[in-house]
Amino acid sequence: MNFESKCVKDGEFKMEIRSHQFPLYATSSFDFDTIDQGIDIFSGKEKGLVYSRYANPNTTVIADKVAALEMHGLEGDVRALMTSSGMSAISTLMTSILGAGDAILTQGNLYGGTTELFVKVLERLGIRTHFANLKDLNKVEDLLRENPKIKSIYFETPANPTMDCVDISALAELGKKYGAYSVIDNTFCTPYLQQPFALGVDFIIHSATKYLNGHGNSISGIIIGRDVDIMEKKVWTTFKLAGTNASPFEAWILNMGIRTLSLRMDRHCANAQAIAEWLSTHPKVGKVNYNGLTSHPDHELAKRQMKGFGGMLSFELKGGLDAGIRFMNGISFCSLAPTLGDVDTLILHPASSSHVNVDKELRERNGITDGLIRLSVGIENSADIMTDLGNALEHA
Ligand SMILES: Cc1ncc(COP(=O)(O)O)c(C=O)c1O
Repeated sequence: MNFESKCVKDGEFKMEIRSHQFPLYATSSFDFDTIDQGIDIFSGKEKGLVYSRYANPNTTVIADKVAALEMHGLEGDVRALMTSSGMSAISTLMTSILGAGDAILTQGNLYGGTTELFVKVLERLGIRTHFANLKDLNKVEDLLRENPKIKSIYFETPANPTMDCVDISALAELGKKYGAYSVIDNTFCTPYLQQPFALGVDFIIHSATKYLNGHGNSISGIIIGRDVDIMEKKVWTTFKLAGTNASPFEAWILNMGIRTLSLRMDRHCANAQAIAEWLSTHPKVGKVNYNGLTSHPDHELAKRQMKGFGGMLSFELKGGLDAGIRFMNGISFCSLAPTLGDVDTLILHPASSSHVNVDKELRERNGITDGLIRLSVGIENSADIMTDLGNALEHA
């Protein structure tokens, strides 16, 4: 080989190396042994890797792993795809299963980005969204009966910021009765705490950026569907042509995070329960929203469909907006960060940050009052979290 060729070709190895950790396949494409094999793979006669926008070992392994966790203890086949973000999982799925003229039935307290996607993007593509209280199953049934164009019921449970829950199996059943796919965002629970497929749901999406990763060092999403045909045809076609795939590196990082999922979730739940109980007795705190408290209106429903109550909670400061700002300024151990599901405790005061530009009446209708604080409780020693919250409450 000449020098220039050596620069390009030398150091390549294709032998089997028994790496203990799953290697990172940072490659855009994959070699064929022969042109005949290439033709067979391209034409779909033979299964094989072609191009990382279509599939890559890292993204495939992790998508299949999350699918296996969602199917743990269940029978049947599923297909899964790893996307570049939670939002791309939602947009890829919804634009695959719906078209112009179809409609979505959903709740008013979805993750804000999802609401915006529905009303600002899907609406433009001719897909309408109906917002309703999905806890009112009679109303849901009336809407489905009156609007045959509703082809999907989309929900989150528990939902921000009040941790309201909806009845997964009842909504999935109504969806089946009226020909509407049920889609759940299972980000808050992960399959460790809640398995929506066991309750009859058709599709699950995740923002894997949150608890599945757990360490706040990557952005990605997952789509899992029980209808193999829809997943392999419609969803995969949108995925590969819209280019909503995740990068192999994000998948490699996610795989590391998921290894400790069960340990982390147990600790998130235990810490959140202890903190919720302690906050409930604090004189400066009004309402505490945590599904693990028997006072939460959805405690019984959450107990039925969740294995644990999760790491998310919110509480109201009696002193309102000013108290919220003083409280946030008093925090030193926890992080003021607008994400959730990381190993460290994250705190948000929506009225002065994420919802500062949202009409007060509108945000209050969704439970975001002036003094509301949202906590994503981490896995630190709970005493340290409480000391920090206690000090900040002194200022509130
Ligand atoms: C419940 C929920 N779903 C979806 C998303 C969107 O995920 P991503 O930021 O990975 O696109 C978020 C983001 O905060 C979320 O909280």
